Amino acid sequence: MREKELDAPAGLPAEGLIDRTTELAVIKQRVVEGLNEESAQRQHRLGKLTARERIERLLDPGSFTELEMLRRHRATDFGMDAKRPYTDGVLTGWGTVDGRKVFVYAHDFGIFGGSLGEAHAAKIHKVMDLAQSAGAPLIGLNDGAGARIQEGVMALAGYGGIFRRNVAASGVIPQISVMLGPCAGGAAYSPALTDFVLMVRRTASMYVTGPDVIKAVTGEEIGLEGLGGADVHAESGQATFVHDDEDDAFETLRWLLSYLPSNNREFPPAQAPADPVDRSCDRLLDIVPNSPNQPYDVRQVIEEIVDHGDFLELQQAWAGNVVIGLARIGGEVVGMVANQPMVLAGVLDIEASQKAARFIRFCDSFNIPLVTLVDVPGFLPGVDQERNGIIRNGAKLLYAYCEATVPRIQVLMRKAYGGAYIVMDSRSIGTDLSLAWPSNEVAVMGAEAATNVIHRRAIQNADDEQDTRRRLIEEYQRTLMHPYYGAERGLVDDVIDPRETRSAIHTGLQMLRSKRVTLPERKHGNSPL
Ligand code: HXC
Repeated sequence: MREKELDAPAGLPAEGLIDRTTELAVIKQRVVEGLNEESAQRQHRLGKLTARERIERLLDPGSFTELEMLRRHRATDFGMDAKRPYTDGVLTGWGTVDGRKVFVYAHDFGIFGGSLGEAHAAKIHKVMDLAQSAGAPLIGLNDGAGARIQEGVMALAGYGGIFRRNVAASGVIPQISVMLGPCAGGAAYSPALTDFVLMVRRTASMYVTGPDVIKAVTGEEIGLEGLGGADVHAESGQATFVHDDEDDAFETLRWLLSYLPSNNREFPPAQAPADPVDRSCDRLLDIVPNSPNQPYDVRQVIEEIVDHGDFLELQQAWAGNVVIGLARIGGEVVGMVANQPMVLAGVLDIEASQKAARFIRFCDSFNIPLVTLVDVPGFLPGVDQERNGIIRNGAKLLYAYCEATVPRIQVLMRKAYGGAYIVMDSRSIGTDLSLAWPSNEVAVMGAEAATNVIHRRAIQNADDEQDTRRRLIEEYQRTLMHPYYGAERGLVDDVIDPRETRSAIHTGLQMLRSKRVTLPERKHGNSPL
């Protein structure tokens, strides 16, 4: 039986140091061997790895140092005293990924369904505390059934301790959650407090109340995948990445870590690029159409600008009208934020504002400069948007940019109208460098709408309405719809040849490397939530 295999040896300890050492080796060997064959096979049958296999796949070979492998629970009710397996269903410790230190915990579904009791929680608390003191990322490999039912309030309090630590570590060390099984209740809430959530299709799910409870309360019938599977959460914005299998998730996790500093006192790791920083971005002239209303994929713009075209896009399946992600320019890590004209014409709406705002705050916490590519027709008009809080949610984005003290560079590519121009890191809200392409048009609104407002009477009174409207639209365009109006007034620092975008950003980033901002003392701001 599984419990016996992982249980302490019966009887008195062996005598003498040699015998005791042999006994220790036997105990540790049993713990490392872990589950009985049947439990491991169950994991494999479901397309899942065991907790120990996961750690081995993720970390550099031989780098894992385990903490508290001999920990056992002290619960006695419901026959728990007869089942006291070592580890208590979670492996914790530290190791390296590509030579850099990380802390990790991994639920062992084979022990009480990976559920969290007092001892299990205490192990996670300890590894979280160590990660924060040592200033290294924390990675949770989640495959657990939430609060351990047999341990009642002790299990709930265990989760409270995790949530509190998640929040204390937020903005101090990167926290990453990998969802590898059914993660109920607290096992879903802790990941929600972390910076990135990776989910595996078919095996992983996240939900607060499970299908049985939902059926009992609301009568709705749904399976785990439909309720909180990877694709559901890719679209809800809960999952940063979704994957077909665990190895794919670990590969993306390693790629993600390559962009992140270990903590908020470090700069993100730079890499000497083989891609010349002064490379001319000729393709940009073909990618971005002349007409302000013609769609294109802004990801192609990003890939043309960044080193080797390598761009790690986050939350791809949610709020596609804004694109966010990590890349390097001249070897330096940057956070890219871009309107996506291919989706909803690139308007800002509630979800796009939420998506960009949280990313900006992440980058700001971890010293990652922000590059904002602007091509935005405005905020999405609509009763639905207004009633559901576009003001409050758009304000999140505004707030995030205004409080960011990392280097910030804005590139005005094509159009930038109204409040959306201001919000997309304009000079007036504190960007450090505003660069515009000659195709850029910044205005309160598009030419036609603006002319209809300011010249309504003149057009109505004109003998030839059509002709007068056309003439006035042209006048508006000549006066305002180009970057020189802003450049003359200092709101645009330079109008650049689009092909020089990469080198201009790089030059700006070099200049801003030593940027320092001193903030007045306060407990914290009050961002609209
Ligand atoms: C203790 C549990 C458990 C739990 C499962 N097990 N859930 N033990 N506490 N919460 C045990 C089972 O008894 C079983 O033990 C083993 O784990 C595997 O469970 P199965 O049900 O056989 O596995 P499977 O069919 O794959 O289903 C997995 C599951 C399901 C979907 C996770 O077990 C389930 O729905 N469990 C309940 C989830 C839940 O409601 N948790 C509380 C959330 S509330 P044996 O000995 O038979 O192998 C919460 C509070 C904090 O977390 C909220 C903060 C906001």
